Amino acid sequence: MDDIRRTHTCGGLREKDLGSEVILMGWAASVRDHGGCIFINLRDRFGLTQVKADQVVDFSIFESARGVKAEHVLMVRGKVVDRGDNRNKDLPTGDVEVEAWEIQVLNPSKALPFPIAEEVDALEVTKLKYRYLDLRRPPLTRNLVTRARVNRLTRDYLDDQGFIEIDTPILMKSTPEGARDFLVPSRIHPGDFYALPQSPQTFKQVLMVAGFDRYYQIPRCFRDEDLRADRQPEFTQIDLELSFATPEQIYEITEGMLAAIWKGTLDVDIPTPFPRMPWAEAMEKYGSDKPDLRFDLQMVTVTDIFAASSFKVFSGTVERGGVITALKAPGAADWSRKDMDGLTTVATDHGAKGLVWIKIRDGGELQGPVAKFLSDDERAALLERLEAGPGDLLFLVADDANPARQALGAVRLDVGDRLGLRKAGRWAFTWITEFPMFEWDDKEERPVAMHHPFTSPVPDDLDRLEDKPLEVRARAYDVVLNGVELGGGSIRIHGKETQKRVFAALGLDDETARSKFGFLLEALEYGAPPHGGIALGLDRLVMLVTGASSIRDVIAFPKTTSATCLMTESPSEVDKAQLADLGLRVERKEPKPPAE
Ligand code: AMO
Ligand code: AMP
Repeated sequence: MDDIRRTHTCGGLREKDLGSEVILMGWAASVRDHGGCIFINLRDRFGLTQVKADQVVDFSIFESARGVKAEHVLMVRGKVVDRGDNRNKDLPTGDVEVEAWEIQVLNPSKALPFPIAEEVDALEVTKLKYRYLDLRRPPLTRNLVTRARVNRLTRDYLDDQGFIEIDTPILMKSTPEGARDFLVPSRIHPGDFYALPQSPQTFKQVLMVAGFDRYYQIPRCFRDEDLRADRQPEFTQIDLELSFATPEQIYEITEGMLAAIWKGTLDVDIPTPFPRMPWAEAMEKYGSDKPDLRFDLQMVTVTDIFAASSFKVFSGTVERGGVITALKAPGAADWSRKDMDGLTTVATDHGAKGLVWIKIRDGGELQGPVAKFLSDDERAALLERLEAGPGDLLFLVADDANPARQALGAVRLDVGDRLGLRKAGRWAFTWITEFPMFEWDDKEERPVAMHHPFTSPVPDDLDRLEDKPLEVRARAYDVVLNGVELGGGSIRIHGKETQKRVFAALGLDDETARSKFGFLLEALEYGAPPHGGIALGLDRLVMLVTGASSIRDVIAFPKTTSATCLMTESPSEVDKAQLADLGLRVERKEPKPPAE
């Protein structure tokens, strides 16, 4: 091998190369024996080239091609020839093939646990155990190539905008993003722990005090939380912070960055500026703080219509100060009983006590289990408010405001799916603004920060911080795409007094605040500039750009939903000696659960 170099990749040969002598290396994607002639598709990450070993040309080549099995690594030397009548229009190299003079097996492969194909239906656990084989499949290879491109476009854009890339520590003090920390025991200080960053939030604020003005980083973040299709315990952000910045400037920079990424990966021009919507409006109309605006079906509040209803679920809710929210599915009156059951399950899975559905028949009569309880006035007012008519289907949920809206919001997405309105290739970006500062935590029985405790309240609301904290709005914003929260940020508190009041509202006394973020509080006292920023989830962004259905498909070595790596089998036990070094003793509460 020492003196043999490949002349082309497996994706490179074209008609202009006809007649040249080439050396290719790659994996045998397929071997087809056509009697006197064997065809091998040779694959690398750049593409596929057909290699022909013809008995008539050279019998010994034919013999060596016969020994090739799927995924053997090969060196092929030969001549580029025309495929004549057998051109393959679906393949960039499909006009030509390589007539082999020499085929060397550089390394054989064992029989595979699953084929290397565009689609395979192997078990997820098998694919994750043999991740290096799964990554050979073109869709996953393409995703990682796109991810690298997104990284590059991001850096280029932010460099152009005057941002400085600065690394912040991985071994650090606990951060306040609200999830559980991953802890790392210290050997030198037995009994003490570092935390892995949930985000570089505190460091990037300190960097503003240090005068860097515009910082960015593409950091790895760690959060010990329950996982879903768009959540991993270890993920990557595009993290920015700016001094002397208004929200508008941060929106513009983020929009410019996303436009550059969409242009540079998909060649799509996304219109900017993105629409903006206050949180309260998003909740009322779409039942979500990350509305999917690819379709416009809006929820409507109908509480007032049913204040005196003889349907007790409705009037009782109104009495308790709750809301009734409604949604029209246009032209869906012919959906089946099974559809109704499915949608009711969606609502109850999202916390609703039930889902009222009402079909409007051709003659205008209302049909559904609850319809008979509604008075003529209620019916007329409902149809008018929803601009509904024959053929339409209505859904209603009654409950406290947020649970009712979130449940109907989930129904809205399901209705969107059923009506085919959530189309791939449509890009509905939006900013959600004016988030509440706090939300009530039932378990802890206190307000908790909706974004994080360094977020600045809206100045007009400051006087309510002590008495009515849940009514205070934050200078926080999320950027949302197609129903996914892509990123979030805020203008920060830069004055010590406000920071203290916010900590107090969160139930953090001075001493706890000092021990947790004393360094930041102190830094704020040394001429901290007004500042703000944002972080975008890089994995989610690449998932949306590539159309992947899970962020696992855009991460080279992801964890399972139970936070394990099936390839390396982590997490795992460690040596007793290692534990002793750290002054740790492990008490197993329960036997180790099996990997998924
Ligand atoms: P936040 O916590 O909203 O803000 O996180 C920013 C973005 O990171 C992504 N993200 C995740 N992606 C995958 N897996 C996860 N477990 C996960 N958690 C979050 C989301 C989210 O919108 N320091 C602040 C930002 C700031 O205020 O500037 C922060 O981390 O896309
Ligand atoms: P019930 O009287 O509990 O049998 O409910 C009658 C109908 O109202 C059923 O179709 C339930 O799904 C629905 N329902 C019950 N509670 C609610 C609620 N809070 N909001 C919307 N629909 C409800």
